[in-house]
Amino acid sequence: MWNYTEKVLDHFRNPRNVGVIPDPDGVGEVGSMACGDALKFTFKLGKDGRIADAKFQTFGCASAIASSSALTEIVKGMTLEEAAKVTNQHIADYLGGLPEQKMHCSVMGREALEVAIENYRTGKSVKKILEGKVICTCFGVTEEEIERAIRENNLTTVEQVTNYTKAGGGCGQCHPDIERIIKKIQEERKKAVAASAPRKMTGVQRIKLIEETIEREIRPMLQRDGGDLELIDVSGNKVTISFRGMCAGCQVAEVTMKDVVEAKLREFVSPDLVVEEEENA
Ligand code: FES
Repeated sequence: MWNYTEKVLDHFRNPRNVGVIPDPDGVGEVGSMACGDALKFTFKLGKDGRIADAKFQTFGCASAIASSSALTEIVKGMTLEEAAKVTNQHIADYLGGLPEQKMHCSVMGREALEVAIENYRTGKSVKKILEGKVICTCFGVTEEEIERAIRENNLTTVEQVTNYTKAGGGCGQCHPDIERIIKKIQEERKKAVAASAPRKMTGVQRIKLIEETIEREIRPMLQRDGGDLELIDVSGNKVTISFRGMCAGCQVAEVTMKDVVEAKLREFVSPDLVVEEEENA
């Protein structure tokens, strides 16, 4: 049994905006019955250029239904420019989170929205067109889709990529390719950080870089497990933090996570940093 939030269960049991809009302005279809999930998303614009109505039909699990339902609620009232910026993380956040293994349902919603907007703007196919090299032939997932999921969600393992895109969830032959893509993006990130890092940082710049690294590299990782951390203080090379949520109060997790946090800060900020936990946190 999946650990669903109350909001996921509510949208699953009482899905909003089910159906197909007659004479819609945009239509997007993604997934396939063969893969187990499919979604058709339609929208209609109002006279003010905002999305006046949005409906969905889906074949899938509770998370697919909840994600599709949430998507329709999120985009109603938005301009197409605003809707085009909706990410899978917005959908998951709206639902109070999704189990990691079900994140691909939120990605499917974002993809259907994109296809529908493209359909409105260009009149092109209402179905998702696979552009670029297909990496996972079992689920028809391209290199571009995998790269995007990794970048947008800070994914670091093949298992996470499978959770978010389904790629790698079948025969497993694409795993080396997925690992290669993860490594490529990690290298790119390191280079970008090295290029942007000033040679000699002031104290303020150092704190800012620590905060940015926590935000980009560490917090998403902790939040996926229901935890979080707070930066308490930076004094010289000593960084004091405090774990929150599931991470707090678990001795084993603290030791492990403290090491992970320290490794990340050393990698992206400075190799001399030492991480300590706030006492009596
Ligand atoms: S090719 Fe990706 S799981 Fe089979």
